[in-house]
Amino acid sequence: MTRRWPASGQPAILRTSGVRLAALGAAVAAMGAVIVFVVIYYGTLGSLRQTLDASVTNEIGEILPQGPATPPAVAAIAIRAALAQRPSRIFYALAGPNGAPLAGNLRLPPPAPGWHTLDAPEADAFAPGVTELRVLVVRLRGGASLLVGVDGTMIRRLNDLIRRSFLIGFGLTLSLGLAAGIGFGRKALARVNAVSLASREIMAGDLSRRIPLAGTGDEFDRLAETVNAMLDRMQHLMENLGAVGNDIAHDLRSPLARLRETLELALRDPDPAAAGAAIAEAIAQVDGALALCGAILRLAQIETGARRASFSDIDLTDLLDRLVETYETVAEEADHRLAAHVPRGLAIRGDAQLLNQMFANLIENAITHAGSAARIGLVARADPAGVTVRLTDDGPGIAPDRRGAALRRFGRLDPARHRPGYGLGLPLSAAIADLHDARFTLDAAAPGADRPGLAVTLVFPAGGVPRPG
Ligand SMILES: Nc1ncnc2c1ncn2[C@@H]1O[C@H](COP(=O)(O)OP(=O)(O)OP(=O)(O)O)[C@@H](O)[C@H]1O
Ligand SMILES: [Mg+2]
Repeated sequence: MTRRWPASGQPAILRTSGVRLAALGAAVAAMGAVIVFVVIYYGTLGSLRQTLDASVTNEIGEILPQGPATPPAVAAIAIRAALAQRPSRIFYALAGPNGAPLAGNLRLPPPAPGWHTLDAPEADAFAPGVTELRVLVVRLRGGASLLVGVDGTMIRRLNDLIRRSFLIGFGLTLSLGLAAGIGFGRKALARVNAVSLASREIMAGDLSRRIPLAGTGDEFDRLAETVNAMLDRMQHLMENLGAVGNDIAHDLRSPLARLRETLELALRDPDPAAAGAAIAEAIAQVDGALALCGAILRLAQIETGARRASFSDIDLTDLLDRLVETYETVAEEADHRLAAHVPRGLAIRGDAQLLNQMFANLIENAITHAGSAARIGLVARADPAGVTVRLTDDGPGIAPDRRGAALRRFGRLDPARHRPGYGLGLPLSAAIADLHDARFTLDAAAPGADRPGLAVTLVFPAGGVPRPG
């Protein structure tokens, strides 16, 4: 069943994690910008205003040596003296109780006592270029009032500058963040779309299709590699499955035809004893067919790798000793000789039943296919690379260009075609070796010799728990 996400009405690009992450990032960056703005704004302007206020307070102290009790006339003299000395940036307005100006360089009725920030439009500035004043108004005894102010235009300019810079920075952060997010989101969306497209084609039946890699080695590429490896395995299994079906049908046809012939003969034969013998023969043929089915199914199961779950530590020395013991007699009965050299304490990880089956297949092959009076050898050894087991015989061997065919399912080479067997022993053994991550190779036991023989070498990876030998 396919599950579809409900269409949310947003364009696909806005639903990508890239855009969402970028939007989140841009929002956090913008928040950071707001905090920086607040700190700079209040920090800079606050301390600047304090400095201005301090100079105003200082100046008031100069003009009013007795504080509010200073007579206005004394204050007026002090103002004139101060203006004569430094006429520029300090502003004074001394007014009588009725508001009439008494002294100063500012024609302005003083506002209520206390601190004020006074603005003036550019055209009607307090002095050329002075549009903001920071002032303190003090009421003198007798009702007169004194205003002292300093130029605060710088504060206003700075204020505007900080605000403008902040707005530009904030806008840029937000829009660059979003643009980057949309860019990344688009790229990610294109990659995801490629994966969906490939997946759809695979689902439609094209098992050879793979997810394209961008070659950047990023997480998408790594994901695609893993999925592609999985698809390789699936394709291999599917092909195997198909091949197994074909092979079964193909290989069961002749035993079934023989079985039919046997039963037909039994039906026609009036002699009950002959009919009984034919039925016994038919049963033997059915057993053979069942054994074939069992072997094919086992091979298919081994190739899925599921048996790996039941691996345990195997005492390989013990396993090989028992096999050699069993097959020594069988070999002798067929006029062969089986000689083994297995050191103590060989250990590997694996499935004992399958390993038994693999070595039995290989020994049986030597007994069956190595001709008469063959010498069969089994040598095992352990080294840092792992455990090596080598099984040799001095029969005709398998020519290098026929080894691939011998390893294929139902691959039986010419001289063996008339002997019993299905051609499943070698592929089964190779599959079991593969399951154990063991290297499985076929070569000549004595290259160049008259009877080069076959050598099957298995190298199991190191990692078993060694047993005291
Ligand atoms: N030791 C050997 N010497 C020479 N030829 C061999 C040897 N082992 C295998 N072969 C060749 O490889 C073929 C495939 O071997 P495999 O074990 O897969 O099948 P089989 O022995 O014929 O049948 P099965 O093992 O299914 O009973 C054999 O039919 C035989 O021709
Ligand atoms: Mg065999």
